Amino acid sequence: MKDLLDLSGIRQKLNTTIIGKEIRLFEDIDSTNREAMALGASGAKEGTVVLAESQTGGKGRLGRTWYSPKGENLYLSIILRPAILLAEAQLITVAAAVSVAETIRKATDIRPGVKWPNDILINRRKVAGILTELASGNDKVNYLVVGIGINLNMKISSAPEEIRGIAGSLKDFSGREIDRGGFLALLLSEFECYYLIFKAGERQRIMELYTGYSATIGNRIRVRSLESSIEGIACGFNREGGLLLKRDSGIIDTILAGDIEHIS
Ligand code: BTN
Repeated sequence: MKDLLDLSGIRQKLNTTIIGKEIRLFEDIDSTNREAMALGASGAKEGTVVLAESQTGGKGRLGRTWYSPKGENLYLSIILRPAILLAEAQLITVAAAVSVAETIRKATDIRPGVKWPNDILINRRKVAGILTELASGNDKVNYLVVGIGINLNMKISSAPEEIRGIAGSLKDFSGREIDRGGFLALLLSEFECYYLIFKAGERQRIMELYTGYSATIGNRIRVRSLESSIEGIACGFNREGGLLLKRDSGIIDTILAGDIEHIS
């Protein structure tokens, strides 16, 4: 039997003022994002965290699933109520990516890279992903849920075939078991730090840190949509975290959402 998360130990380690003051821990759940969106609709406080030992229907971006075996990794969703426009919401995902990268660096001494928009990589393998969902009205955010999945201790050899070649875990790369409670407490405090920076309006600082972790800038990339596919060099980000792509013709496109392929 694996050690389960110990909420009172986590609370003792937590030094935040908003994020994680309320934590709901589930042993098995379909998706912490689904639960957090429902809690958001019924008025849950800003900073509430939904945490699970395992997910049966963990959601990834673009309709994918997130492999969520029990007791090995971290699956959490944070409910936020920022007074912002819809167009600004992407920067919260950017802040979350910076927090995850910083936490990994502090916990393991390994500096990960961030593949746009928010895949956290070590040696080109995905160790964490972020899925932000929100409810809005009149172009404003009502509430928002930042869902984070981090592969801490899972053995990649026991993961499903389809992710075995692309995923990795922090244990694989650091060579040691990661303390899940300690990692979570650090992650929540890192996230609170960058969320407060975001709320204070220092958005450029978040973009600078994100750019520093980027594994995409400087690479040749391909962006596919239903109708077309474009290629070019990833040459920067706009203020909201959109990707600037320089085509061979010199034209610069701004990619606001979607998925990219690194081709060199
Ligand atoms: C991605 O596709 O990279 C995003 C993955 C996000 C997974 C996390 S696990 C916790 C939270 N609950 C979910 O259902 N999804 C997110």
